Amino acid sequence: MKTYNVVVIPGDGIGPELVDATVQVLDKIQELAGDFRLSYSFHEAGANYFQKHKVNISPETMEAIRRADATMKGPVGLPGVRMPDGTEAGVLGGVLRSGFDLYANVRPIKLFPRVAIPLKDRAPESIDYVMVRENTEGLYASRARGLILEQAATDTLLLTRKGCERICRFAFKLAMDKTSGAPEEGRKRVTLVEKSNVLRSFYFFRQIFAEVAREFPEVEAENLYVDAASAALVMRPEHFQVIVTENMFGDILSDLGGATIGGLGMCPSANIGDGRAYFEPIHGSAPDIVGKNKANPLSQILAAGMMLDYLDRKKDARLLEKAVWQALVKERFRISSAGQVEGGTRHVAAALKEELEYC
Ligand code: NAD
Ligand code: IPM
Ligand code: MN
Repeated sequence: MKTYNVVVIPGDGIGPELVDATVQVLDKIQELAGDFRLSYSFHEAGANYFQKHKVNISPETMEAIRRADATMKGPVGLPGVRMPDGTEAGVLGGVLRSGFDLYANVRPIKLFPRVAIPLKDRAPESIDYVMVRENTEGLYASRARGLILEQAATDTLLLTRKGCERICRFAFKLAMDKTSGAPEEGRKRVTLVEKSNVLRSFYFFRQIFAEVAREFPEVEAENLYVDAASAALVMRPEHFQVIVTENMFGDILSDLGGATIGGLGMCPSANIGDGRAYFEPIHGSAPDIVGKNKANPLSQILAAGMMLDYLDRKKDARLLEKAVWQALVKERFRISSAGQVEGGTRHVAAALKEELEYC
């Protein structure tokens, strides 16, 4: 019996509802597999924790994450809980992503069956790309470092050669490994989304992208400006296989991509570095629907699937995704056009546990 140590941070707002559903599904997967165990240690961190302790995460939790095989994190942050500089106190991107140098934020955008979406006539998997968001630099390198003067404020965008090289290489390797090509014509393609028509930093990124692309002749490499990319993600999402981009652009565009596949509740993510990773939904704590039994937990559940894949439980990861797919096909639960679960969050875990029995 192989045991994996997993740190669990339920987080704020809808986080505990989502994590509860996810743990139930993971319990069922372990029961069916019979040859591995996830040993959880639960930790509080985020905005509620900050209100009690004046820090958003404890040194003990950081140490637990350092030692764990993986970390499963719910969304954190509450808009009312802020630092003296006006930024939010509860968000953990700085401490976890920069702190552990988890430079690749991997955000799959995939259309599942029968999910209500705003685009017309889209078959499942006609949208199936991965957004690789650089996670440690870009404009968010200025996190907590911006300058505020009386009449002006500034945040600086930083791109380094090391940061650009490693995120581009990560994106090309992912394109090589991803079993499906771009839905349009099955090709392997990495698209760099940037703004080098205006900013020198993005021309620097673009040159490094071209250098790295030469190492991967099987993969088509293309550039797209971020404004045109925003339109393309809505008008021709089938064109994309892997997108690599700067931190803030990736933050914004991944939520846009999420809107095309049934809302943020369909969007898992992985924050990956060399030898450490954590897994979470791309969305936040959704204060507007907390406690209403409306949140879609598939973001968190599919993030757990990405964790199983990372832990090399490939078969179990595939099983989990298949169960989600089949449950949607059979309409065991429905995702509404508002991105919420008809019939309630709590029902999803029960339906998936049943579906896992058949897969
Ligand atoms: P949000 O992502 O929490 O919510 C945006 C909209 O999407 C809301 O209408 C919400 O109800 C909906 N939504 C989000 N997840 C959903 C789900 N699973 N099912 C159904 N609907 C869902 O964004 P926000 O309101 O701008 O931010 C709320 C808080 O979350 C803020 O404190 C923000 O800083 C934080 N945040 C945290 C993370 C994170 O922990 N990784 C990510 C984004 C935002
Ligand atoms: C995300 C979030 C975070 C980010 C915030 C909450 C710090 O929006 O994970 O997409 O911008 O990185
Ligand atoms: Mn975001």
